[in-house]
Amino acid sequence: MSKLQDKVAVITGGVSGIGAATAKLFASEGAKLVLVDMNEEKGASFEAELKSQGAEAVFLKADVTSEVEVKNIFTTALDTFGKVDILFNNAGIGAVKPTEELSYAEWRKTVEVDLDGVFLVAQAAIKEFLKTGSGVIVNTASMYGWVGSPGSAAYNAAKAGVVNLTRSLGLEYAARNIRVNALCPGFIDTPILGEADRQGLTAATPMNRLGKPEEMAKAVLFMASDDSSFMTGNSLIIDGGYTAQ
Ligand SMILES: NC(=O)c1ccc[n+]([C@@H]2O[C@H](COP(=O)([O-])OP(=O)(O)OC[C@H]3O[C@@H](n4cnc5c(N)ncnc54)[C@H](O)[C@@H]3O)[C@@H](O)[C@H]2O)c1
Repeated sequence: MSKLQDKVAVITGGVSGIGAATAKLFASEGAKLVLVDMNEEKGASFEAELKSQGAEAVFLKADVTSEVEVKNIFTTALDTFGKVDILFNNAGIGAVKPTEELSYAEWRKTVEVDLDGVFLVAQAAIKEFLKTGSGVIVNTASMYGWVGSPGSAAYNAAKAGVVNLTRSLGLEYAARNIRVNALCPGFIDTPILGEADRQGLTAATPMNRLGKPEEMAKAVLFMASDDSSFMTGNSLIIDGGYTAQ
């Protein structure tokens, strides 16, 4: 029996990296998908790719920092599939710059996407889940929600915010059948790494390699499915051993 048969999942940042790998795994487990992203070009081609493989998927261009566009995500999901069961709240941007050079606008942008956006989409999902009486949220934080690093103060602060937002929402809705957990990846080989020194990131990882998006997707599936039915307010750190050091 498929783990997500007939479930409807909204995936933000759903057309690239960890979100796209999760979309493929969710589809293979029977889920219907609403893929949300700013990247329209990738969105259209990924929707077509999934459909050609027999998946039920719709792409929606939306910015997770816009209240109006976030509301539209759930209107679209309800219009297309009639319900929402799962939110993978995963859209994010990276930001690396020495703190003394960081403008307030740059700080705000990172926190706006990586923390405020997670809040806005989670809140909209929770409003729907309260109507239907159940739901599951998986937020993407980072191992940098747990440990610090030089040169990415805004990102790290935002991701730590996501970890504690996850705890708080998990507790707030624990008795109302809405589970909220977080994925905390280490260095994963996706476009967000950009020009980062991949060799350096590999060497800094005890397993001496970067993680694969597909390895994240398996953890997301665990947290989004009934396999984790007694888990809420928690985080899974999957980082090749980085934070164990
Ligand atoms: N790759 C890593 O090493 C790593 C490590 C820890 C955490 N993460 C987190 O994982 C998540 C997914 O990142 P990824 O590695 O797959 O990178 P990615 O760049 O491949 O995917 C991120 C996606 O989010 C989308 N996005 C960005 N801002 C958005 C917005 N305002 N509204 C809607 N969509 C938006 C981008 O267009 C992109 O498609 C992010 O939250 C990231 O911070 C990644």
